[in-house]
Amino acid sequence: MAGNWKMFKTSAETAAFFEKFLPLVAAAEHCEVLICPPYLSVATAVQAASGTRVRIGAQNLHWKNEGAFTGEVSAPMVRDSGCTHVLVGHSERRQFFGETDKSVNDKAAAALGAGLTPVICVGERLEQRQSGETEAVLTEQFQNGIGPLSPEQFGRILIAYEPVWAIGTGLVATPDQAADAHRAIRAQARARYGEAAAAGIRILYGGSVKPDNVKGLMAQPEIDGALVGGASLDPFSFASLVNF
Ligand code: PGA
Repeated sequence: MAGNWKMFKTSAETAAFFEKFLPLVAAAEHCEVLICPPYLSVATAVQAASGTRVRIGAQNLHWKNEGAFTGEVSAPMVRDSGCTHVLVGHSERRQFFGETDKSVNDKAAAALGAGLTPVICVGERLEQRQSGETEAVLTEQFQNGIGPLSPEQFGRILIAYEPVWAIGTGLVATPDQAADAHRAIRAQARARYGEAAAAGIRILYGGSVKPDNVKGLMAQPEIDGALVGGASLDPFSFASLVNF
């Protein structure tokens, strides 16, 4: 269960979140728990979560290890800050910051090179779904954004299927729609990396996951977890997702 805080929460708000959240998930051993705060709250989050099973991730990274790239943060820096994971290619990065399948692949490789687990995000926009292109879009994103990774690298990533039309809109994909998309992604994984790798890859669903719809989604064997935006900001709501 992964929370993506996007551009929300100061350090003080981060500390307050963990104080309430950690006791609520102390007994949750059925899943891995990940929270991705903004960079400047990572140190507070890492400190608050140390000694617990909660892992901390960043929301983005640069594909070079260092250099003249004003405003950017590299994979070794993310790792050094205590993060274990990093989101790569979230649709908001693709939409507002010009990320492409090529940059997604470069960033995923950089993350893996630094020992981070990249959570690689894919998903179609509304008009693409409406014109029947969902599977073609997922195929292209997989082949160009993920497919260049080696089999060894593929074994160390997570994938998040996030239909863009369901993010922050309250429009959740139905469990069947999500499972269909996950099957399409797994089919790509099978074609490129083989049966065992496809069976082993964990695919999270993201897009308006809330305490009242998480059970139906998680009942799908194809859905291995959730990447949660809005509902991860409140400690009680995210804890109830973790404890679904
Ligand atoms: P949401 O965001 O849960 O607020 O729809 C999901 C995401 O962007 O990862």
